[in-house]
Amino acid sequence: MAILQWTDELQVDISRFDEQHKRLIALVNEVHDAMLTGKGRAVVGDVLDELIEYTDKHFTLEESTLTKHEFPECVSHRAEHQKLLATARELQEKHKAGSLAVTVEVLEFLKQWITEHIKKCDKKYSAYLRERGES
Ligand SMILES: [Fe+2]
Ligand SMILES: [Fe+2]
Repeated sequence: MAILQWTDELQVDISRFDEQHKRLIALVNEVHDAMLTGKGRAVVGDVLDELIEYTDKHFTLEESTLTKHEFPECVSHRAEHQKLLATARELQEKHKAGSLAVTVEVLEFLKQWITEHIKKCDKKYSAYLRERGES
């Protein structure tokens, strides 16, 4: 069962970023499934690796678009991305070493991270980028 569902609330109206956000949500659900079905630590770790790699790629693409259009909040947006990635990597290290409690912590963090960041940070660029021809 999915722990994270796509809703209209998450839509940023820039099609490639909406597609990437959907993929991120799918990956979080994959991590969840891997944990639920009792896949080993290595499998969960692999899905986490994929999620982190995809997130890194998505952040880089978002940042280059924001820089190109001189989005005023770009610096703080990038800082937010860096903070999120650093925390995700830290959690992943703990997961590799770790306990079941960390597994729950990892999932809760990922879920919060995706929804809060998209709603609070990414949505701020929607109108700005659309006014500059992105769609
Ligand atoms: Fe994003
Ligand atoms: Fe972002």
